[in-house]
Amino acid sequence: MAYKITSMKDIFVDLGKDSYNIIIDKGILNQVGTLISKVISPSKAIIVTDKTVAPLYGNIVLDSLSECKFDVKVVSMELGEEQKSMAKAEELYENLFDHEMDRKSLIVALGGGVLGDLVGFVASTFMRGIPFVQIPTTLLAQVDSSIGGKVAVNHPRGKNMIGCFYQPKSVFIDTDTLRTLPKEEMTAGMVEVIKYGMIKDSAFFEYIEKHLPAIMKLEPAVLEEIIYNSCKVKAHVVELDEKEEGLRAILNYGHTIGHALEALTSYKKYRHGDAVAMGMIYATKIAIEMKLVDEEVLKRQESLFVKLGLSLKDTELNPNDIVSILYQDKKTIGGRLRFVLPIRIGDVVINDGADEETILKVLAD
Ligand SMILES: NC(=O)c1ccc[n+]([C@@H]2O[C@H](COP(=O)([O-])OP(=O)(O)OC[C@H]3O[C@@H](n4cnc5c(N)ncnc54)[C@H](O)[C@@H]3O)[C@@H](O)[C@H]2O)c1
Ligand SMILES: [Zn+2]
Repeated sequence: MAYKITSMKDIFVDLGKDSYNIIIDKGILNQVGTLISKVISPSKAIIVTDKTVAPLYGNIVLDSLSECKFDVKVVSMELGEEQKSMAKAEELYENLFDHEMDRKSLIVALGGGVLGDLVGFVASTFMRGIPFVQIPTTLLAQVDSSIGGKVAVNHPRGKNMIGCFYQPKSVFIDTDTLRTLPKEEMTAGMVEVIKYGMIKDSAFFEYIEKHLPAIMKLEPAVLEEIIYNSCKVKAHVVELDEKEEGLRAILNYGHTIGHALEALTSYKKYRHGDAVAMGMIYATKIAIEMKLVDEEVLKRQESLFVKLGLSLKDTELNPNDIVSILYQDKKTIGGRLRFVLPIRIGDVVINDGADEETILKVLAD
């Protein structure tokens, strides 16, 4: 059972019997044992983390769970996007068997989005599903991947192709963990944060414009504010459309062309955030061509991205190649290209009216 908390830093994600809380606080890691005990009785538990995060935060979480009578051990994996795979999942199942985990045992995912997606997938499949909690430690994982229950591993034929929807029992976000995060990872997460402002909340977008320097200086109060607002937008969209049957697609703003740029460069040239930022700019330019939105919306996004040191367009790829990849995107339906297009700051529409000529013009610009 989830529990309702009213404090500003808690978000209740209302998904019926799969409801859970997202708790955001500075320095929360040493309290996760107590907090988890509210939703799960002490049991066997495994904290899964990676080689970078383990020495930073592994012991704090381990001690916190041990103090609350969990029989817990830490598994630290060598992990990057290439290892978000079935092979790694199987390695993890072995660890769970070795620790004699059963259907009441707990898995804790401590790390970035790669780790969270993999661990969530393992939790969803081990013995047909065992409880897991997310402790995301990158900005991207805190505002995006840890919430909403999409869990997956990659397949040689495509990213995130093997997976399911499986909600965590809780998400604990410690804003202090961002202090050790490389700046590029912080920037990548910021693109998704800006995306939330664009799709749902103009006041939040303005807040980001005003506080960008403080955000990048990791001032605790502003970090908490942007993470809280981002999680609120994502949680709200997920509550309305858990399985991405309609509305949830708005979270893909900037991702249609963004994914194409990533795929065409074999996921090597661009980080996800870099590609999505360009995708947001292209989507806005398409919306301008279609007279759905005015130039100011473009300028304001461009200004934020430039301050973050991001590129606004790709200069090397052939627009025709980008368009052909778009047709293969799993988000394309009925053969028509479908975009999430802004109509003003804080509001987007899902639209399949962009013709190829317009898209090519924008890409070639
Ligand atoms: N499930 C979803 O809804 C969803 C949504 C968006 C993205 N994703 C997935 O998320 C993944 C990307 O996640 P990511 O951007 O977090 O990258 P990541 O998980 O690769 O983490 C980036 C790097 O930061 C390191 N790291 C993590 N926390 C740290 C900390 N506090 N201090 C220092 N280093 C730290 C990690 O070890 C890693 O090397 C992709 O696989 C993507 O598919 C999933
Ligand atoms: Zn994204």
